[in-house]
Amino acid sequence: MSLLLIGILLFIPACSPHDSNLETGNMTTITLPEPNLSGDISLEETLQKRRSVREYASTQLTLVEIGQLAWSAQGITDQTRGFRTAPSAGATFPMELYFLITGTDDIAEGAYRYLPDDHVLEQIIEGDLRQNLQSVALGQESITEAPVVLVITGVLSRIEPRYRDRAMRYMYMEAGHVAQNVYLQSVPLEIGTVVIGAFSDDGVSDVLQLDDGEYPLYIMPIGKLR
Ligand SMILES: Cc1cc2nc3c(=O)[nH]c(=O)nc-3n(C[C@H](O)[C@H](O)[C@H](O)COP(=O)(O)O)c2cc1C
Repeated sequence: MSLLLIGILLFIPACSPHDSNLETGNMTTITLPEPNLSGDISLEETLQKRRSVREYASTQLTLVEIGQLAWSAQGITDQTRGFRTAPSAGATFPMELYFLITGTDDIAEGAYRYLPDDHVLEQIIEGDLRQNLQSVALGQESITEAPVVLVITGVLSRIEPRYRDRAMRYMYMEAGHVAQNVYLQSVPLEIGTVVIGAFSDDGVSDVLQLDDGEYPLYIMPIGKLR
């Protein structure tokens, strides 16, 4: 190994798994806490309590809560095969999750993509996009009420080669599984959420700067119960 390479390696700062903020350019990558795999509320009680909630406390969400919700939606539960908390047609995994995060102590304001393999959030856009999102979703106030907004999208090219003209409907079905997981995970966390399907596809795509062929499927405002 050359002296130059040894010198470079010695000066790379060590990062523990708990270093949550890694600066990459202006954007940030956040390592999420490991999900909690046990809870105090039964599935039956959770189902009984699930409700759409459109008004939230002003309390901020913690990184632990955001990490738990991301895991419930798309977390990896079979490391060998990469299978996730939600089913996926042919294990093609077309879903993407974006968290619009505002008013949280340990996270810079912005839009973040969830990367299930590493259980991290990767910042894609800086700033508060909730107002822009609200205006392309019939002005629904739950979006600006919420400290965190989840947008679920689907990448058609991952699923279309296998399922052809059924691919789009499979993406919508899969988004339903993902959203229901988030609804159910919210109950023990005493968090409220609602699925929003009334929005302009082009409008949401513009706000999140989505690539062609990536379709917004659901918006879910998320906040602590009042
Ligand atoms: C496909 C779909 C689209 C929806 N779109 C909206 C929406 O745009 N805005 C909203 O506030 N709620 C929306 N909802 C939530 C429903 O209004 C809600 O589920 C319904 O009132 C029943 O209440 P519950 O979820 O508490 O049982 C939607 C639900 C579904 C399944």
